[in-house]
Amino acid sequence: MRPLLITLAVLFGIASLPRIFPPPPDPVWDDAQLRIEAARHNLHSIPRTREGMRKLVDTPDNPITPEKVALGKALYFDPILSRDRTVSCASCHILSEGGDDNRPAAIGYKGRINPHHLNSPMVLNAALEKFEFWDGRVHTVEEQAGGPIQAPFEMNLTPKEAVERLSKNPRYRKMFAQVFGENNVTFANIRRAIGAYERTLLTRGAFDEFLDGNDSALSPAAKRGMTLFMARGCAGCHAGISVGGQFVKRFPLRRYVDDYLGFSFTPRFHWKTSEFPFDNVGDFHGREGRDFFRVPVLRNVARTAPYFHNGSVRDLHEAVRIMSKYQLGRQFTPSEINDTVAFLKSLSGRIVDYGY
Ligand code: HEC
Ligand code: HEC
Repeated sequence: MRPLLITLAVLFGIASLPRIFPPPPDPVWDDAQLRIEAARHNLHSIPRTREGMRKLVDTPDNPITPEKVALGKALYFDPILSRDRTVSCASCHILSEGGDDNRPAAIGYKGRINPHHLNSPMVLNAALEKFEFWDGRVHTVEEQAGGPIQAPFEMNLTPKEAVERLSKNPRYRKMFAQVFGENNVTFANIRRAIGAYERTLLTRGAFDEFLDGNDSALSPAAKRGMTLFMARGCAGCHAGISVGGQFVKRFPLRRYVDDYLGFSFTPRFHWKTSEFPFDNVGDFHGREGRDFFRVPVLRNVARTAPYFHNGSVRDLHEAVRIMSKYQLGRQFTPSEINDTVAFLKSLSGRIVDYGY
């Protein structure tokens, strides 16, 4: 009897801790302080000038030149790189839609759905990522660009076929010669050209205007959301100028008893069949199958629904709620969620015209 009572007392004690020691109040930062905190969290604005852009994303491995960007852009929009000439990079990464396709799972060659039910991520600002793909397996846009051309469910072309097709095309032969020298249509150069174009696809929005000194660029709600984002720890994972893409982290980080009781985030009530706290459509478990995923870039996130690697969540508010509960261990209230969403919307922007 005694041990039971002691156990109950201890459990009761632990359960009431949050009441006795409420979490520390959130800081209230004025505009100047918000900018200082942003810099401290490595959140910076996207440059307006070509100079600034080149400092940020140019690389000696693949120097950006106007001709290379023009070639990369042509290839990006041209279905010539898919077996049946119907699919281009732009089919799944629509630039005006935030650089993704707004479908839960990608659809490619002959309507094939991504076998792991993977959601197309955005290409805007992808050059700023240290890790690309949902499991973070590649590190540069040049490395990345070779993948979709070959994937049977995306463009389904071998490197040899891609090179042959472009070599037979007078326009491309000429463009490749201009950029890389005569007879230099190679798969590596295809990847370089597309990569150079992607490096120029950076976006600026209200958030950048605010960081650059325009106090009225953000609403009071967005400023409160920005405070929460930094003070509560979202920025610890969604870090850097791209607000993400710098780490591979476990998701979900925390588990709750009710995850195992049969609740699901979909309206259906059913017993859990997966270890995920929501439907793990597609059964992709990230890096080494251990639920480690690349932390996504949140720039333009308001325009890239649905969310998560498998596109299982439609609503940004719900994505923020899940993040606060499972990644921070402190579920946001509805008004905190609204403020955070107002902040995330300020991360939407337009592609900066660097004059290419
Ligand atoms: C059939 C749709 C489809 C096509 C076509 C396609 N992609 Fe993708 N793309 C995806 C999907 C799905 C992923 C995520 C795959 C993964 O994580 O394993 C992705 C990932 C990416 C990423 C990584 C972004 C990130 O944040 O991880 C970049 C960059 C990218 N694609 C660029 C391109 C380029 C360039 C082309 C053309 C050569 C292309 N894509 C063609 C669907 C597509
Ligand atoms: C421990 C690291 C970590 C923390 C802290 C964190 N996130 Fe995330 N976040 C991730 C990972 C990893 C994913 C990708 C999960 C997946 O796709 O399965 C993600 C995905 C997201 C997405 C969906 C993006 C998309 O394109 O699908 C949003 C929105 C988001 N996080 C917002 C937030 C907000 C807001 C906070 C703070 C409340 C936060 N995150 C805290 C790691 C983190």
